[in-house]
Amino acid sequence: MSYKLAPSILSADVAKLGEQIKEIDDAGADLIHIDVMDGVFVPNISYGIPVVAGLRGLSDNFFDVHLMITKPFEYISKFVDAGADGITVHVESETPGLDEVIDEIIRCGAKPALAISPDTPIDPLVPVIDRLDMVLVMTVHPGYGGQKIIKDTFFKVAQLRKLIDERGLKTQIQVDGGITLDNIEEVKNEGADIFVAGTAVFKGNIADNMKQFKKLLG
Ligand code: DX5
Ligand code: ZN
Repeated sequence: MSYKLAPSILSADVAKLGEQIKEIDDAGADLIHIDVMDGVFVPNISYGIPVVAGLRGLSDNFFDVHLMITKPFEYISKFVDAGADGITVHVESETPGLDEVIDEIIRCGAKPALAISPDTPIDPLVPVIDRLDMVLVMTVHPGYGGQKIIKDTFFKVAQLRKLIDERGLKTQIQVDGGITLDNIEEVKNEGADIFVAGTAVFKGNIADNMKQFKKLLG
């Protein structure tokens, strides 16, 4: 099993974004997690297409764009054109259908992923999981960095692990929200592959934090 660390730049210092992206890249970030929020789907606003395009010039890493927006469908191509390598759409958002979302992400040339918020069961993912590069299990309610992990979401990671293994799929399981050096082992044991961490990477010494995470992920 190879585990991946995906620092979320939501917790980075925006005035030093370029510098800090270089720092996480140098420290071995496997993906760069970019949280896009529209103030409607979630009660917070972050950044959008021009920021992704601007950052693209600074890193060759995989840009993992997590869309927390009400109507993601029409924006998929715009984010891919801006430099997204993977696009994650929430099943709770307004879309023409999940197959259509996956078709569109693939058509644009990116890796497709779907996310479920803490109160959403895995059910909507089951019929389409074979087509997905990644499923994202939110371990906090989307909207803000720095929240406490909701352990009641862990059973869904285990359910997805079982389903993916039974079907012999390569779909990766990502967890996002409240991941720290103290709880990552527990989430890992449930069967997650990719760990998003914002606060726990960017608060304090970034290189040291990255080193400790990488050590725990083996
Ligand atoms: C929450 C975002 C997360 C968040 C993670 O809506 O999707 O990616 O930035 O931050 P931490 O690790 O601080 O919970
Ligand atoms: Zn996220």
